[in-house]
Formats: sequence, C-alpha cells, structure tokens
Amino acid sequence: SQTHTDTLRTPIVAVLGHVDHGKTSLLDKVRGSDVTGGEAGAITQHIGATAVPLDTVSQMAGALVNPDDFDLPGLLFIDTPGHHSFSTLRSRGGALADIAILVVDVNDGFQPQTKEAIDILKRTGTPFIVAANKIDTTPGWNPQEGEPIQKSYEAQSQRARSKLDEKLYEIIGEMSEMGFSSDFYWRVQNFQKNIGVVPVSALTSEGIPDLLGVLMGLSQRYMKDEMAIDVAGPGAGTVLEVKEERGFGATLDVVLYDGTIRKGDTIVVGGANEPIVTEVRALLQPRPNAEIRTEKRFNKVDEVAAAAGVKIAAPDLENAMAGAPVRVVRDRDIDDVIAEVQAELADIEVTTEEEGVVVKADTLGSLEAMANALQEAEVPILRAEVGDIAPRDIAVASTAREPEHKVILGFNVDVLSNAEDELDHSDVKLFEDDVIYQLIDEYEEFVDEMKR
Ligand code: GTP
Ligand code: MG
Repeated sequence: SQTHTDTLRTPIVAVLGHVDHGKTSLLDKVRGSDVTGGEAGAITQHIGATAVPLDTVSQMAGALVNPDDFDLPGLLFIDTPGHHSFSTLRSRGGALADIAILVVDVNDGFQPQTKEAIDILKRTGTPFIVAANKIDTTPGWNPQEGEPIQKSYEAQSQRARSKLDEKLYEIIGEMSEMGFSSDFYWRVQNFQKNIGVVPVSALTSEGIPDLLGVLMGLSQRYMKDEMAIDVAGPGAGTVLEVKEERGFGATLDVVLYDGTIRKGDTIVVGGANEPIVTEVRALLQPRPNAEIRTEKRFNKVDEVAAAAGVKIAAPDLENAMAGAPVRVVRDRDIDDVIAEVQAELADIEVTTEEEGVVVKADTLGSLEAMANALQEAEVPILRAEVGDIAPRDIAVASTAREPEHKVILGFNVDVLSNAEDELDHSDVKLFEDDVIYQLIDEYEEFVDEMKR
C-alpha cells in the first residue's frame, strides 16, 4: 500500500567497514559527540542509531548542502561493529539500510570485514559510497580542519597529494576486484553505475562536507520514490537493545523503518519464549544528533514516524530480545501479526550440540556473535541463551562430560544473586567479559593451562 504523502521518510544510512577503520569516529564528527571515547576496548559491540536533522547536515556540509534543495528531513545513521564476530549485526545494519557508507582506512586498505560488508551490500542490493578515511595520516599532510576535499587538496604539497592518490587508486583497484567500478567521487557522473570514493578524515573533518553532500544528493535523486512511504501505516521496526529504565522497567531501543507507532498502540515483539503482545505506554525519542545507545535525556512523544530511533516503554518487555522484530497491530488481525513475528524469529538461531559450553549474552546479536566466534575457535556449545546467569545455567553446565566444557561464558551479563552461591559450590567455571575476543582468549588460555 504505497500512498504518496508530502513528507518523505528519513533515509537510513548504515555505516559499515573493518574494525578500527573509523566508523564511530566519523559519526562522532557528524553529530558532534564522543561515543568512541566511551566504548569498552574502544570497539563497537552493538548497533546504534542517530537521527541527524537536515539543518545539522547542512551546517556540517557548508556550501555543499543547501537545505532549500532538499525535502528529505535528514538522515538516520546506523553505526555497526567492525569486529569479525559481529557479522549478524553487520547484516542487520545492512538489511535496515537504504544506502550505506563503506569506511576504509587508507593505510590499511581492504580487510576481511571490508569484503564481508561489500558482500552484504551486494546481497541486499544497497547502494553505497566509499569513505576513504584517515587521509590526515598521509606523510607531509597539511590539515585543513573541516574543509571540503578540493580545498584540502589545494593546500597539499605535490608529494602528499600523490601519496594519497596512490592509496586511493589501491582502493579503486580493490573495488574493481570485488566487481565494482568506482572513481574519485567528483569524477562520477552516474552514481548508479559508478561508486564514488570520498577521501575523508574523522580527525580533522576534512572531506566530511563532501561525504554528506554525496549522501544527500544520492538519497534525493535516486531514492525519492522509496522514501515516499505511507508514514501513517502500522509501524515496523527492529529491537536494538532491551534496557532497564528507571520508572519504566524493561524498555526497547528500536529502529522504526516503516509506518508510525503511537502511544496506546498494541504491538507484537519477538520474545525469548514466545511473541509478546503488549500496549505502548510511552514513547521516548532521543534528541536530534544523539546516539540512542548513549542518550540520557529522551523527549516524551505521542507518536513517531519512520525512520527513527525510539525507546518504547510497555509492560511485559522483560523477555523481549535484541534483534527481534516489533510490529504495530493497528487494524490488522493480531494472529497474522504474531505469525509474521514468529516467522522472522525462526530465521535467527544458534546451533548447539550434545556436549559443550554454556553461553549467555545480553542480546540476540551478541549471542550470535559469540556462537560464530566459538565456532571459529572450534569450541562446541551445549546451550546458548540471552539473559543473566541463573541457577539453571549452572545445573546445565555441570552436566558437561569434559572438565574443559564445565564452563559458562558470560558476555555483558550479570550473575543473578541466587546463582552466586550455587556457582561457588559447583565445579563450573565462569568467564565474564564485555569484549568478545577477550572472553574467548581467556577461555582458550584456561583450556591450554588445563591440557599442559
Ligand atoms: P569498530 O566499531 O570497533 O569497528 O571501530 P570503528 O570503525 O568505529 O573505529 P573508531 O571510530 O572506533 O576508530 C578507531 C581508531 O581510529 C580510534 O583510535 C580513532 O581515534 C582512530 N581514527 C578514526 N578516524 C581517524 C582519522 O580520520 N584519522 C586518524 N588519524 N585517526 C582516526
Ligand atoms: Mg565503532
């Protein structure tokens, strides 16, 4: 049901790329924040969302984005993790996206997750541009804070310029190996045939005006029809996180990608055991330019239209799962909506075996990431679940045959108070960390010790 309305939906822009290539730093520059500074181990382990309004975009982009030329309300950025374990979150980000920025460190070039990101974009048919980041690290670079790339280039020595060009041509070569024709963005005539490469620095903000200009231009020119959705239709979204919020109990951080959600709406949410049917009590919207992952002061609103990041407060959300779908029922048959949610959930699964370790994680995304990382490390899994460590988990872990499998690996979870005592009196060993690869390293060291 495509009804044309005067308002266009905000395009969803996913930021993808290899670990440490500068995705979060680039977004920090665009929204004027320091999310990177607050991350454990300085790596992103969740997907986040930030609504950047048109006036912020045009402020950052200067002459390259004149707000009068656009009727898009702004851009909704989805930050994704680059660490190899989080392929599910990258896929989810890619699946949500209307358009993407592939971030590539000019010194590091294409790395495994750069290629994985391209595969995701190919599979989902998402148009994208390449942000060739960290140009400030070019030997002899003369930084031009916040300037468009043309101006920045003019201020460089011949030597620095050709050093950078060399790196950019390497990226263009790698793109070609992956089956994409690409070029410096200012030479691209048709962005549907050629992928634009935009040199940027998340340290000096050079080239960020260009990046925003290209994104806005592309969205407006090629995606206007897709953005003209029936914004008044029943809302559809994806849970990013389930969080306790004082005064509200368990709440959901959601990216709404279609329709509208209103206070009082009946919603269906994917849960740990079965779909949850509940009624929206409050809708809390992050302020413009705030990352939903870190926002502390939300605005209470009566309705939210796609695309947006929104925190939903409602009863009975304790068993909701990050990564699960959220659907507004509105005038539809509730059983149809429940079936839809169940079908989507069935696609997300972790394979378990008869013998292995117990894994607990805070979200579906991190649980899958743990499962992938353990599979790579050839560690079998007996049980994998979302949630804090409960007495039952200790009971299950103690049934493992091999001593090296009488183990619980907890990622970003707590030990429930009634499980602490039990843990002390059992032969089950607990490993906890909030960085996946460290958690797995710790476990592998333990196994090595044991076998010595
Ligand atoms: P993950 O989320 O873990 O995949 O990493 P990321 O891609 O979000 O990278 P992040 O923004 O956390 O940056 C990684 C490191 O690179 C940080 O130390 C940043 O300060 C640094 N960095 C990012 N962009 C630039 C840049 O343009 N120039 C320089 N010199 N350093 C940068
Ligand atoms: Mg990051």
